[in-house]
Amino acid sequence: MDSATIRERFMSFFEARDHVRVPSSSLVANDPTLLLTNAGMNQFKPYFLGEQTPPYRRAVSAQRCFRTPDIEEVGRTARHLTFFEMLGNFSFGEYYKEKACPWAWELVTEGYGIDPERLWVSIFTTDDEAHDVWVDVVGVRPERIVRLGREDNFWAMGVAGPCGPDSEIFVDLGDRFGEASPNGPGDNPDRYLEIWNLVFMQNECDDAIEPVGDLPTRNIDTGSGLERVALVLQGVSSVFETDVLGGMVRRAGELVGRTYGDDDRTDMGLRILADHGRGMTWLIFDGVLPSNEKRGYVLRRVMRRAVRHARLLGREEPVLPELVAATVELMGPSFPDLRERADFIAEVAAREEERFATALKQGLGLLEGDIERARASRSSALPGEVAFRLHDTFGFPIELTREIASDAGLSLDEARFGELMSEQREQARRARRTEGRSATGLVAPVLERHGTTEFVGYEHLDAEGHVLALIDGTRSVERASEGDEIDLVLDRTAFYAEGGGQVGDRGRIESRSAALEVLDTRALAPGLTGHRAVVRAGEISVGDDVSQLVDPGWRAGAQRAHTATHILHWALRDRLGEHATQAGSLVEPGRLRFDFNHFEALGRGRLAELADELQERVLQDDGVRAYETSFDTARSIGAMAIFGEKYGDFVRVVEVGDYSKELCGGTHVLRTGQVGAIVLTSEGSIGANLRRVEALVGQEGMEHLRRRAAQLERVAETLRATPDEVAERVERLVAGAKDMERRLAEVERKSTEADAARLASAAVEVDGTRLVVARRDIGVDALRSLAQKLKGRLGSAVVVLGAAGEGRANLVGAVTRDLAERGISARELLAPGARLLGGGAGGKPELAVSGGPASDKLEEAIEAVARVARDALTT
Ligand code: SER
Repeated sequence: MDSATIRERFMSFFEARDHVRVPSSSLVANDPTLLLTNAGMNQFKPYFLGEQTPPYRRAVSAQRCFRTPDIEEVGRTARHLTFFEMLGNFSFGEYYKEKACPWAWELVTEGYGIDPERLWVSIFTTDDEAHDVWVDVVGVRPERIVRLGREDNFWAMGVAGPCGPDSEIFVDLGDRFGEASPNGPGDNPDRYLEIWNLVFMQNECDDAIEPVGDLPTRNIDTGSGLERVALVLQGVSSVFETDVLGGMVRRAGELVGRTYGDDDRTDMGLRILADHGRGMTWLIFDGVLPSNEKRGYVLRRVMRRAVRHARLLGREEPVLPELVAATVELMGPSFPDLRERADFIAEVAAREEERFATALKQGLGLLEGDIERARASRSSALPGEVAFRLHDTFGFPIELTREIASDAGLSLDEARFGELMSEQREQARRARRTEGRSATGLVAPVLERHGTTEFVGYEHLDAEGHVLALIDGTRSVERASEGDEIDLVLDRTAFYAEGGGQVGDRGRIESRSAALEVLDTRALAPGLTGHRAVVRAGEISVGDDVSQLVDPGWRAGAQRAHTATHILHWALRDRLGEHATQAGSLVEPGRLRFDFNHFEALGRGRLAELADELQERVLQDDGVRAYETSFDTARSIGAMAIFGEKYGDFVRVVEVGDYSKELCGGTHVLRTGQVGAIVLTSEGSIGANLRRVEALVGQEGMEHLRRRAAQLERVAETLRATPDEVAERVERLVAGAKDMERRLAEVERKSTEADAARLASAAVEVDGTRLVVARRDIGVDALRSLAQKLKGRLGSAVVVLGAAGEGRANLVGAVTRDLAERGISARELLAPGARLLGGGAGGKPELAVSGGPASDKLEEAIEAVARVARDALTT
């Protein structure tokens, strides 16, 4: 039974039992606690937790999964995979064990036709309920049921979330895989292959994966690895021999010119190429791009590991795009979307391989030396410095270095590597840290006593408040007077503190006795706003009442730029694909800078289209809404969250029109029309797969365009043309200038020829050879070419030429081959002249150049060289 049939049989079996067929979710889970989707249940987590009401009570899916814990094991065993498909059926508070177990058994025995005599079942130690269902309802013989503990039969996501005891179904693969055991899978996991895990989701666990309570309902979450079922049904002995993965192995073999089964090293390499090839293809499909962070780093690791193993197997040409093609060929029939994105994926793969190929070669060369040295010094570990340098200079993921070291029988000093990495990070942090912001020790007591600052700035630009603290650099002070620059902490504020890329507000704060100018606003600690302000007049004290006014122009400019940033983010993802997510942003009044993940320049055409789209959204004057909601609701409506960012239970969502939804704490205009204009000013690369777009917004955008127009006017005036004619006129001018240059070069060439002819005919004869000595104050290149020409015209000759220019003089000496062979060297001839000019001589026996600053000595130098030449020719 091929994989596509198995998948379909599973899906339709449960569909016929009232399950809704739910598409696989992306490998990029919409869940900031998860690096990558690792189980079918991930997308249903809020249903299990009771945070959302499921739209259906029964579901079935074939979920693509990616597991990262043992990437380096893949290939070494016949079982480990990073990427796989998990077939699963789910019940959200509806049926439980009494249905889940019999259905699973029915599908395995009748649907797949596996002999029940080959099957075993494991249950959680204390789960008598499951035991009874298996024995009484399904009819499994009690001796085929083993009870196992927390390690084996209790399932959790690996992060906080739903969890529960589980029951697994195993297939006995037979004597090829070791002795039969009365304890079945309890003893020999190689012989007894787990093909299905039925989780009885009833508990909730914390970050330490400890159950801490019951879920509101009792649920079913099952997961069956498609590749393992295929192994059983296709009668092969490893997942790498099944149809899809086996196909990958075969293609990998063709690429490196080897066959699976040749020897252990080959098999290992081919398994790596097969698995990593599929894994990287699907990661890129789901919008991940190789990088040094998080998911991008997982992708980079598998790509680079695959490249290394392909090279080890002897393939020097690119391999990653070929592996993408193989995946698309083998999986495309079941996944038409994959075919559609094939070119894109192959392109990303090709670029990453290109980027790494040279570094790999150089890095491996160095590493070999380091390994030799470690061995010579009888050390069992490779120094952390080696791994650090490979990482820093050659982009070797640490895991790759560890693997290579371990292949060479060495361990790696990872503690030292870690130290060096954190030193580097610390250095970067120190460099970034702005002075005077290390007031944490001072703000803790304020926070403790008064709590966080109340922010009223979404609705108001002015507010009344109360001074809680004044911080002067690293001291807390009671009062500040005219000229002092301090951080002011208030109980409530209308000032927006820098965050989410948006700059902090500026404005004025006044008390009865003081006037302050706020230069910047930043959080001193999460939720505690610091107003960096200068006292312009009077004196301010802790306890004073103040009134605040945010600079409305400043804020309005920042709001325009912030909304423009959201529109831009949306438009980029819409046009380039889901991978084009935000990597960083800066929002200032009238200006934005946006960094995003993408692998190539946008090009003029794309940029023009993007500019049109942005302006179109502005002109449509869409509404901008902001509201607070639970994190899970925000997630369920698809609001963009930033991976790795910690969000509280309540989050703020900003929606622009009905297209852009982002979690965002910033301030925005009310309608896109208020943005006015978005003018893109630059697009470029700022690192591997990272691009930056800059734009001017609103008034600043208009001014930029006006300046451009004025420049154009000026050029037009100079050309005595209208702006419309400028481009064509300039093209003509440039073409004319080129033509002129060509003609001038021709004239120069001819005049050099003529000069050479003149000098040649005036050459003096010395002992059957000829000598030319002359001064021409031309550039050194022209001088050299004149010398060459002369040599060409004279049979056997020595040429000495000199030239003087601004503060520098040059000598060129040329000697025909026959004389050079007699031992006359142009370089030696020039030596006395060079000394006079205050420089050295370089070059070859047949042609040498020298030069020095003493240009007033040129005549003397030429004479000196001529003398030596004459002497040389007469002896
Ligand atoms: N969540 C369980 C697993 O991943 C069953 O789907 O094994």
